[in-house]
Amino acid sequence: MEIQGKNAIVVGGASGMALASVKELMSKGAGAAILDLPTSNGEAVAKELGITFHPCNVMDAEETEKALNDAYDALGSVHIAINTAGGGIAKKTLGKEGPHDLESFRGVVELNLIGTFNLNRLQAELMSRNDIEQEGDERGVIINTASIAAFEGQIGQVAYTAAKAGIAGMSLTMARDLGRYGIRVVTIAPSLFATGLTAGIPDEAERSLTQHAAYPKRMGRPEEYALLARGIVENNMLNGTTIRLDGGQRFTPKL
Ligand SMILES: NC(=O)c1ccc[n+]([C@@H]2O[C@H](COP(=O)([O-])OP(=O)(O)OC[C@H]3O[C@@H](n4cnc5c(N)ncnc54)[C@H](O)[C@@H]3O)[C@@H](O)[C@H]2O)c1
Repeated sequence: MEIQGKNAIVVGGASGMALASVKELMSKGAGAAILDLPTSNGEAVAKELGITFHPCNVMDAEETEKALNDAYDALGSVHIAINTAGGGIAKKTLGKEGPHDLESFRGVVELNLIGTFNLNRLQAELMSRNDIEQEGDERGVIINTASIAAFEGQIGQVAYTAAKAGIAGMSLTMARDLGRYGIRVVTIAPSLFATGLTAGIPDEAERSLTQHAAYPKRMGRPEEYALLARGIVENNMLNGTTIRLDGGQRFTPKL
């Protein structure tokens, strides 16, 4: 898909990899709208970029639907959706305090997996409204964010791993569901990236977490995620898959 003249809804866009993606797409001529938590920097970031901000918590389905519809109304159409809102907890299947509680497990699945699916089903419907010139033309592309923990979760990441593996797992099925509308679905699975989410990780832990990368042995940069997101948008053959963005990194069982 050519980016020039298209519109993007970017969820989690107030910070990190999503914000870098907003900037990358705008530099190529796209319009954009940001969805993020009401407590985020979204308002200020959007003002600075001259775009609109639509506050919502992706765990609240009704609020999210309203924010998506408001963003759609502000843009007039949507062709690109990038979703990064998510996060995890540190808790083992069985720990010193006993078995993993179900409530926090459900919470992580609710935020990452159900939150992403809710966004995707609504984003797909908005994209399905796009006019095409002929049968087979593209209407949209959805980019979701998993983690390499989807494939090799570390000790204490069971809820996060389950949720992110769900995101990776539904990519092909959703791509198949949406193929008839000309909508693609691709997931990015980053290793450790220097964003708001990882800002508190001590240097020692960062070294330990990146030492098993092939090259480069460092945290990824938000701009590197944005570059891949742009490549996914531009390359129509990328669909129904999960792309690792990790410098050849494989998480070991422990830090
Ligand atoms: N940074 C990493 O090392 C890393 C690695 C692998 C995967 N990820 C995934 O990337 C995503 C985080 O992106 P980032 O690293 O750019 O972090 P970030 O904190 O810089 O940006 C995430 C944005 O999402 C927003 N957000 C969080 N919860 C939300 C909610 N419930 N509703 C709406 N918005 C919400 C935050 O306010 C923030 O602006 C998560 O899905 C995370 O699992 C991050």
